[in-house]
Amino acid sequence: MKIKPDWVLPNLREAQKRTHQPIQTLDSFQIDETMQFLGSGKTYYLSTFGCQANERDSETLAGILDAMGFASAPDEEHADVILLNTCAIRQNAEEKVLGEVGSLKRLYRENPDLVIGVCGCMAQEEKLTNILLEKYPQVRLIFGTHNLQELPSMLYDVMMNHKRVVKVYSKEGEVYENLPVHRFGKHKAWVNIMYGCDKFCTYCIVPYTRGKQRSRTKDRILAEVRQLKAEGYKEITLLGQNVNAYGKDLQADYSFADLLAETAQIGIPRIRFMTSHPWDFSDAMIDTIAAYDNIMPAVHLPLQSGDNEILKQMGRRYTKESYLELFDTMKARIPNVAISTDIIVGFPNETDEQFEHTLDVVRYCKFDNAYTFIFSARPGTPAARMADAVDHETKQKRLQTLNTLWNRFALEKNKQYEGKVVQVLTDGASKRNADVWSGYTDTNKLVNFTGTGIHTGDFVNVQIETAKTFSLDGKAVL
Ligand code: 5AD
Ligand code: SF4
Repeated sequence: MKIKPDWVLPNLREAQKRTHQPIQTLDSFQIDETMQFLGSGKTYYLSTFGCQANERDSETLAGILDAMGFASAPDEEHADVILLNTCAIRQNAEEKVLGEVGSLKRLYRENPDLVIGVCGCMAQEEKLTNILLEKYPQVRLIFGTHNLQELPSMLYDVMMNHKRVVKVYSKEGEVYENLPVHRFGKHKAWVNIMYGCDKFCTYCIVPYTRGKQRSRTKDRILAEVRQLKAEGYKEITLLGQNVNAYGKDLQADYSFADLLAETAQIGIPRIRFMTSHPWDFSDAMIDTIAAYDNIMPAVHLPLQSGDNEILKQMGRRYTKESYLELFDTMKARIPNVAISTDIIVGFPNETDEQFEHTLDVVRYCKFDNAYTFIFSARPGTPAARMADAVDHETKQKRLQTLNTLWNRFALEKNKQYEGKVVQVLTDGASKRNADVWSGYTDTNKLVNFTGTGIHTGDFVNVQIETAKTFSLDGKAVL
């Protein structure tokens, strides 16, 4: 493969550098006249992998494409531009993307004008971008997480100048404020409150793929929330890699607890936030969640491991004891709170005993929900350089043991809902059965229910009849 002089290739080493340079907020987005009609009569299809940060980024990409005159296509077969917004968190996320890019080759053969682009976290990785350039000639456009705003000019170069465009910046990043947005949800919306992450947990690639922690100003965030309220949104989720650290990079004495309170006062019926790091979860945050009825009593609190030595090697900066103390305080102070978590098994050299310590915490906490993973070595991260004597089969067994345990507690928890009436925000008709509606409780439990005269976006009182491990079944009541 010949590297073109105008390509900007990713560099993970550059991406981990942190300076004290102030963050720039930019309002300068506009689409050049020559590019405003590039999409006339053409369509796009967006495929999003990974987390909510990516979902929200895809809404920005869709907003930009709309502004260029593109229409959204129902599927890849009918699209002139296909963008894959990718995730790098674990190797299997990347394999999924490569599989999808591979299957698009047929469409590219039939239509050489088809533009296939790969963006997002995976593009930020040297190794993956090289694989795409060498083995997937159908990919004509590669860009990362830092330059969504350059989509018009990049597409112009691909479509009009027939270039293969590669522009992946490895930098701390800026905050772009006036980018267009095409929200995919009509009653639930994502609101970015910050970008990037400076925690550098030793297993995690996010600080490399998404840059330095950059908070948006409270005025911008609150203005967006007010706008969403005016548009009739029923639920918003404040998004950040670690929302508790909100504002620590701004020269203002204003914390996430303050932001949460002011957001609640705007009066959107449901407010959620994601994700929290146990390390800087303040008392003020707990009090604020407890004080406002419209801040949902559901906290995602990643544990990762229940063993102090592993936590230290992970660079998590809390201990099992301090995690449990925080957990107990939340349970005591936030009525009816549901706590969910993330756990990694098979961190390099994790012993049976250390894994048992994780199970002990799960037995104590009886989480409402858990996302469990086998450690995946991410290129460039410190944990990927650790020698590891544990075989994959052992790791798989641990994952199974962990899942069986937390599933048992989740079912136990869900059983407590049987016979109770809960308020559900309706997401729509269930995919499998159009007579069954589905939505979530305040505690983030998935509910499937029957009833008449129901519409997407309605709050419905549902009597729970049967509890399952991952959902509740019931019927609407007046
Ligand atoms: N391997 C496995 N799981 C990981 N996570 C993050 N990085 C890795 C990795 N290298 C998990 C963590 C995190 C969640 C989003 O993904 O549990 O909280
Ligand atoms: Fe989201 Fe992390 Fe995946 Fe990037 S790597 S898409 S930030 S989960």
